[in-house]
Amino acid sequence: MNRTNPIGFFDSGIGGLTVVKSVARLMPNENIIYFGDTARVPYGSKSNETVVEYSIQAANFLLRKNIKLLVVACNTASSVALKELRRFLTIPVIGMIEPGAKLALQESKKGIVGVIGTRATINNKAYAHELKKLNPKVKVYEQACPLFVPLAEEGWLDNKVTELIAKEYLGELHKKKIDSLILGCTHYPILADVIQKVVGKNVKLIDSGTPAARLVEDYLNGRGLRNQSVHHGQAEFYVSDVPTKFREVAERFLGKKITHLHKVELDELTNE
Ligand code: DGL
Repeated sequence: MNRTNPIGFFDSGIGGLTVVKSVARLMPNENIIYFGDTARVPYGSKSNETVVEYSIQAANFLLRKNIKLLVVACNTASSVALKELRRFLTIPVIGMIEPGAKLALQESKKGIVGVIGTRATINNKAYAHELKKLNPKVKVYEQACPLFVPLAEEGWLDNKVTELIAKEYLGELHKKKIDSLILGCTHYPILADVIQKVVGKNVKLIDSGTPAARLVEDYLNGRGLRNQSVHHGQAEFYVSDVPTKFREVAERFLGKKITHLHKVELDELTNE
């Protein structure tokens, strides 16, 4: 394995870019390959079996690009497919749940933590289990917010409709006096401003991307795989459906132009 090989990321769509942003900020010289499964988004309302199948296809696609480490930049896939991916991959695989749960416990003063995520992540109790494992005394309140994903994909970030939906979803959590709120879906940091406005400034928003990026750095350092280049890394993006909207929202969120964006045919993912 070569130090200059890229780090691979996948998500159902645009959400994993929130993790890419954290990794690129911490290690700007790393090369990045991103796959967004825009033809099959959302993952969060699909069965565990389907999400595992799609995750394996995404991982195989990225492996063919010679990635040195895989970031499962999707909480839904991290909740249901992480074990399976770790079982068949020989490279390190980083998920979102553990780093996010650890950070939430560090940040929470009262030990009352809110979790929002896709229906799959919430139904699988991925964060609740991890939080309780780390601290059995913690109080956890969860809420699925499935409509946040299409709003983020559409780029409806600062919008009255988004705020109304956020109020509807977050009202109950707010009453529980949570002091930290895990954004348990990588799409949600794109909507962080609206979410913060609705829950108030006393609730600390936890974006798993930040601690996950630190974990990526530790893994690469530990295995002597950190890129030593003094130049900025290359970022290549692949999507399984029309790239136009992806480009627009991605460039707005990342604050820079995307120069390498390609469409992958679904056949290429499914025909192993
Ligand atoms: N961004 C993903 C997550 O973190 C998936 C959202 C979806 O496709 O439903 O869960």
